Amino acid sequence: MKLRDFLNLLEKEGKLSRIKKEVSTEYEIANILYSLNENPTIFENVKGYDFSVFGGITSNRDIIAEGLGTTKEKLLFKLVDALRDPKDPTMIKDAPCQEVIVKKPDLDRIPVLLHLAGDGGKYVSAGVAIIKDPEMGRNMCYHRLMQIGKNTFTARLIKKRQTRTTYDKTEGDLEMAVCIGSSISVMIAASLGPPPGVDELSIANALDETPLTKCVTKDLEVPAESEFVIEGRITRNVDREGPFVDLTETRDFERKEPVFVVDCITHRRDAMYQALIPGRLEHKMLMGMPKEPTIYDEVSKVVKCKNVLITMGGGSWLHGVVQIEKKNPDDPKKAIDAAFRGHGSMKHVMIVEEDVDIYDPNALEWAVATRFQGDRDLVIYPDQPGSSLDPSGKHEPGKKTRTTKIGVDATIPSNVDPSKYEKVKYTKVDLDDYLR
Ligand SMILES: Cc1cc2nc3c(=O)[nH]c(=O)nc-3n(C[C@H](O)[C@H](O)[C@H](O)COP(=O)(O)O)c2cc1C
Repeated sequence: MKLRDFLNLLEKEGKLSRIKKEVSTEYEIANILYSLNENPTIFENVKGYDFSVFGGITSNRDIIAEGLGTTKEKLLFKLVDALRDPKDPTMIKDAPCQEVIVKKPDLDRIPVLLHLAGDGGKYVSAGVAIIKDPEMGRNMCYHRLMQIGKNTFTARLIKKRQTRTTYDKTEGDLEMAVCIGSSISVMIAASLGPPPGVDELSIANALDETPLTKCVTKDLEVPAESEFVIEGRITRNVDREGPFVDLTETRDFERKEPVFVVDCITHRRDAMYQALIPGRLEHKMLMGMPKEPTIYDEVSKVVKCKNVLITMGGGSWLHGVVQIEKKNPDDPKKAIDAAFRGHGSMKHVMIVEEDVDIYDPNALEWAVATRFQGDRDLVIYPDQPGSSLDPSGKHEPGKKTRTTKIGVDATIPSNVDPSKYEKVKYTKVDLDDYLR
């Protein structure tokens, strides 16, 4: 569904808030979104700016699923299908995102948010960046941008991500277009990390029709329905980037990162700027959920995988749950190994069976309480490559973080009477018969 159609639908369903009171981009919008639990919201009156701001459209699985025309339960399989079968997008002219073309850009006209005291500066946090690699083709990925001037940002380009790899082998500047104000399909596709060479825009198009248009000043294609497109170049200059709050809600420190120079901004006539508050629900959903299909694919190679969840409590990055149909005693162990292959940054994974509701944290704890024995069902891998986002990992400058990984087999033990492990069920009655 197109972004604007989706916002209209959410409003009709009573799921969207409109804030008409004047609000500030400095902390206030971030704090309101936080207080609203990041429910979809439009800020109509932004102090000092001509544009409105919206946020919250990826803050939970139900909303994301609705935006992709599916349900929470079927979402994983929709992502798996799109990853397996990307579809080339069509190209269009006269795109909505180019209704206005600004060739002398001034970033101070765009309501870029200041999120938290202690941040390095104002940050674009929901921008999806598109580049072209001469060998690998198009790539779309999130890159946070810290505004450092009227037409400059520093861009956080993490090593081994395609943008960084392409930048590192480029002589001179690398063209990049950053889209702000995207449909759910674009947002989800940008957060997926398919194998190098697989075009995330074709994945977006497989999730939902996503026509593209040519940039005005760069040899790049962008989703035609975007609200804003920032066309520019990642230069060889570096400058200060950070501190910034990351997924674990702890501070990522200040670094030197490449300077992104903005050459042109295009936007819809009544463009809406997209907010995404760092470290919180939307950030977490978009980081963790796209790892579920890659874990699913790896686990499916070795056992019958039924579902996968990256949990919010683990920062939506470090903890996963894999639901399997256990056929052999060693299936959980195989699933643990495969799950770590499917998401290299995961630290702890739990294996459960189909009778456990993986979306219910109490049910997961119950499975550990009633099915797991530490001396029999715990798998420990010490000194593994780990996530830089985990403050408890072993961090040494210039080296990959090291961590201990743990797998918890909370499935029903083999060679026992399974009925002993089944949760008994009461029968739900029609209360109208009793409560008159
Ligand atoms: C909200 C959000 C912000 C992100 N910020 C960054 C970032 O600043 N820099 C970065 O390199 N990756 C960032 N990522 C992660 C990449 O988008 C993600 O890992 C992507 O899948 C990388 O795929 P690629 O290697 O194909 O480019 C962010 C992800 C999300 C969801």
